[in-house]
Amino acid sequence: MTSVPRPERREPAHAQLDPVGPARPTAVPGWDRPADLSKAPGTVPELAETDVAPDLRAEIEHRMSLYPDRHSAVLPALHAAQKLYGWLPPQAIDEVAAVMKVTPAYLSSIASFYDMLNERPVGRHSVYVCTSVSCSLSDAKKVYGAILDEAERTGLEDTEVREFACLGACDMQPMASIDGRYVGPLDVSDAAEIVASIREGRRPLPGRGLEDEDFRLPYEAAEAAPGGTPEHEAGPTDRGLGPSHYPDETPEAKATEGRNRRRRGE
Ligand code: FES
Repeated sequence: MTSVPRPERREPAHAQLDPVGPARPTAVPGWDRPADLSKAPGTVPELAETDVAPDLRAEIEHRMSLYPDRHSAVLPALHAAQKLYGWLPPQAIDEVAAVMKVTPAYLSSIASFYDMLNERPVGRHSVYVCTSVSCSLSDAKKVYGAILDEAERTGLEDTEVREFACLGACDMQPMASIDGRYVGPLDVSDAAEIVASIREGRRPLPGRGLEDEDFRLPYEAAEAAPGGTPEHEAGPTDRGLGPSHYPDETPEAKATEGRNRRRRGE
C-alpha cells in the first residue's frame, strides 16, 4: 500500500496578516488526543468529604435554585469558582462537582469549551480586546497591540491581555472587556491609562464604561450635542459608518428608485 504524504500545514491567512504577532490558537489543547480508556470512570465527589468554601457553596446552591434543572447553573457556578480561585484548578472543579452532584469530567468538558473559563492560571485580571469585524474596522488590532506593548513594557503582572471574538457591543467599537467591564470606543492612546489603572487597582477609563451613568454611545453623544440629528432620522453616515453600506441607499439605487417612482406616477 502506498502512503499518501500529508499536505504541509500552513498558517491561516489571518495569522500571516496579523500586525501584532501570530494569532492565539483557538483549539482546546489536547482535543485531538484519544481518551484514556484505562482511567476509572468519573465519579461524583461526596459533598460531605469535599472541602467546599462556604461562600462558594451558598452561591452555587442559590444559582441552582433558579433553574428547574440544576445543570443550567453550571456556567454561573464555574464563574463563581473562578472568581474565588482566579482560575479553575482541579480542587475548584471538585468543589463545584460535589455541590452540583455531577462528575468533574462533565464540568471540565464545559470549562474547556468556553473561552472565559480557564483551566490554567492566566492572571486575575483580564483585558479582552474585541478584534472581530466591526471593531477591526476601527483599528481594534492596533488598540490590542498598544495595550499588549504597554503591558509588556511596564511588566504588568497577573493580567491576561488577549484578542477576543465579538463581545456583542459592536456599537462602541473598538471596545474591550476589562475585568468584565465593557469600555469603548478605544484608541491606542488609551493603552497607558488602561494598564496603569489595572496596576493601581483603579476603575479603568471612568465615564467610558457601558455601565457608567454618564456613558453615551457615539451616536447618542452626537444626538445629544446641540444641533445633533435624532437617531431615527440619521443615516448610516451619521452613525459613523462612513459611506453607505446598504445597497438600496447608494446614489445609483436612489436614482433608479426615483425613476421607478416617476414611471409609476408617484
Ligand atoms: S465586533 Fe467588536 S463587539 Fe462586536
